[in-house]
Amino acid sequence: MNYNAPGSVDDIDRIMEVMTGAFAPEYGEAWNRRQVSDSLLLTGTGYCLIGAEGSFDPNLAEPVAGFALTRSIFDEEELLLFAVLPQYRGKGLGASLLTQVIARARLRGIRRLFLEMRRNNPAGKLYTGFGFRTVGIRAGYYRTASGERLDALSQELYIADN
Ligand SMILES: CC(C)(COP(=O)(O)OP(=O)(O)OC[C@H]1O[C@@H](n2cnc3c(N)ncnc32)[C@H](O)[C@@H]1OP(=O)(O)O)[C@@H](O)C(=O)NCCC(=O)NCCS
Repeated sequence: MNYNAPGSVDDIDRIMEVMTGAFAPEYGEAWNRRQVSDSLLLTGTGYCLIGAEGSFDPNLAEPVAGFALTRSIFDEEELLLFAVLPQYRGKGLGASLLTQVIARARLRGIRRLFLEMRRNNPAGKLYTGFGFRTVGIRAGYYRTASGERLDALSQELYIADN
């Protein structure tokens, strides 16, 4: 995870490449470039890229496949955005990226990870597999492009070794 670094132009390009291809427009979950670059100026915000071959090298020679954007405060970290491009899904890259996020968080003394997802997002299966559990529900929090209201599920995972 790259922390306290504004993110190179190349890396922000890579994040935006995934952003525009991975999030279904109807949910309005994707961030624009300004939101990403501004967030990376904030202390505790970081990102991790994964390549199509599963590499975490920030100077990826392979095409970018996915990214995670996180924000930490004290010993807690929020998974702000997490995505893999559709053409690379179902190959374990999402699980590998989440494993990497958790490993890097542990190294920095993070004890609890949390995230918010819309109810029925298929990503929930991935999170449950990692042990995330729902600790809160915000009824009707998300609004789709067609005006439908969807609940937000707050999920957490304790990652401390002891
Ligand atoms: C969520 C996401 C990152 C998963 O990426 P991925 O590379 O396909 O994930 P993996 O291949 O590692 O899948 C891991 C497990 O998660 C489950 N899973 C992940 N995405 C799924 C989907 N769209 N449909 C069904 N199951 C899914 C599968 O059960 C899979 O386990 P399996 O291989 O034993 O079947 C990807 O679907 C995505 O970018 N979605 C759109 C953005 C999004 O919703 N992000 C999360 C916001 S909270």
